[in-house]
Amino acid sequence: AEHHVQQFVIQPRPVKRLCRTHQSITVNGQFPGPTLIVRNGDSLAITVINRARYNISIHWHGIRQLRNPWADGPEYITQCPIRPGQSYTYRFKIEDQEGTLWWHAHSRWLRATVYGALIIYPRLGVPYPFSMPKRDIPILLGEWWDRNPMDVLRQAQFTGAAANVSDAYTINGQPGDLYRCSRAGTIRFPIFPGETVQLRVINAAMNQELFFSVANHQFTVVETDSAYTKPFTTSVIMIGPGQTTNVLLTANQRPGRYYMAARAYNSANAPFDNTTTTAILQYVNAPTRRGRGRGQIAPVFPVLPGFNDTATATAFTNRLRYWKRAPVPQQVDENLFFTVGLGLINCSNPNSPRCQGPNGTRFAASMNNMSFVLPRSNSVMQAYYQGMPGIFTTDFPPVPPVQFDYTGNVSRGLWQPIKGTKAYKLKYKANVQIVLQDTSIVTPENHPMHLHGYQFYVVGSGFGNFNPRTDPARFNLFDPPERNTIGTPPGGWVAIRFVADNPGAWFMHCHIDSHLGWGLAMVFLVENGRGRLQSVQAPPLDLPRC
Ligand code: C2O
Repeated sequence: AEHHVQQFVIQPRPVKRLCRTHQSITVNGQFPGPTLIVRNGDSLAITVINRARYNISIHWHGIRQLRNPWADGPEYITQCPIRPGQSYTYRFKIEDQEGTLWWHAHSRWLRATVYGALIIYPRLGVPYPFSMPKRDIPILLGEWWDRNPMDVLRQAQFTGAAANVSDAYTINGQPGDLYRCSRAGTIRFPIFPGETVQLRVINAAMNQELFFSVANHQFTVVETDSAYTKPFTTSVIMIGPGQTTNVLLTANQRPGRYYMAARAYNSANAPFDNTTTTAILQYVNAPTRRGRGRGQIAPVFPVLPGFNDTATATAFTNRLRYWKRAPVPQQVDENLFFTVGLGLINCSNPNSPRCQGPNGTRFAASMNNMSFVLPRSNSVMQAYYQGMPGIFTTDFPPVPPVQFDYTGNVSRGLWQPIKGTKAYKLKYKANVQIVLQDTSIVTPENHPMHLHGYQFYVVGSGFGNFNPRTDPARFNLFDPPERNTIGTPPGGWVAIRFVADNPGAWFMHCHIDSHLGWGLAMVFLVENGRGRLQSVQAPPLDLPRC
């Protein structure tokens, strides 16, 4: 196994997109940031040096960080942020994981520009369960604001209104030629006729599920969130923020140029960025036009589903299966039911500039009616490890305090969450089931829920209210997909299972950053087991202080 030592220098750099230049926060001057390529079993030591004016921390999204929450990254959950001028070395090991993951800032909205791919090859000599193409292409889908993303966040936090929608989506940092001033930067991927490549698609967008497609070509899906799937073919994928999907693509069409494109899947009845990002798949030696006006023939454009095509999004997600029989817990020790949804906080003075949400309110979001507040004087993990009181409470309710009809028509009295820094304790090795139910409050919406420190199995999902008597009978306990982020269907529910075998404080939250900022989050505290190898490691000496 190899040991990878690297520096991530966080620094502002001028980045020009959509005709204008902004000072963007970058890693080593790169946007998107560097791609990390490692093998299962390798260890990493990444020193993050903060030369920006903002606090920052970096999260290795999907890495399990076994007994090592100190390297996980979410600010005020597992560490205090790295202050300007300071540094911290994330030391961690890849233990029994392979595939496509990614890394991103986990500090307010800095992940808008601070993100990159993290690719894990199998151990030397270990084969893939499918025939692996020679060439691998990371496709990072992102979102671009024609202003400083931190100003977008500040405006939303100050006024209590929804955040401004983005001005463009991007593929590997470039909006593509459907946007102003973006033709020259459009990414072109050369491909040989007959060649098969693997696309590692990562949704790094802040707030948006996306449909992704390549004109005239089919995808074979082979992996999601660093877990292999039973291969199946499709012309379009739906991918939520935080998720990754690997697909194989064969250049089996007439030599030419074909657009790959991504645009919103937006189930909510709310404003969204309705633009389309493109890159060009370009066959090597594709013919050009003859005679006058010679040049390349315009690329073919793919057919993408409509923005509100929940049927296509659901059909895609429902086809995912683990590649073999999965070690899903067949029994459940902890049966949890968490509501996820938006809310509105009433203001004493509805005309205040800080109450620009609907009807003089402020936007909020909650799980089991608790709107999560980050502690500021220490991290939850440090407080948990040291037994320090006053940072968090352990009274996160395992079921919602009030049950109601989650399909809408909820009385306004139930729209207002309570605030707290509440965690839920799990015994070491408990078999956990969580049903996540969208409340449909304000609007039914897909909430891509991410659990740190774990991979889980998605055993069932549906629309409307979860029925505890009839729905579990239809759970897939044989080959459900394994993931680290799963969309709660709009106006519906999804059920996940995992074994609580990784002690520590682990964040669970909606990967739509505006919802996270409004409090759609909670923390699991997983207790230590008996042995040294079942207990949290000691914190590193350079762990940042608050
Ligand atoms: Cu990719 Cu807590 O996030």
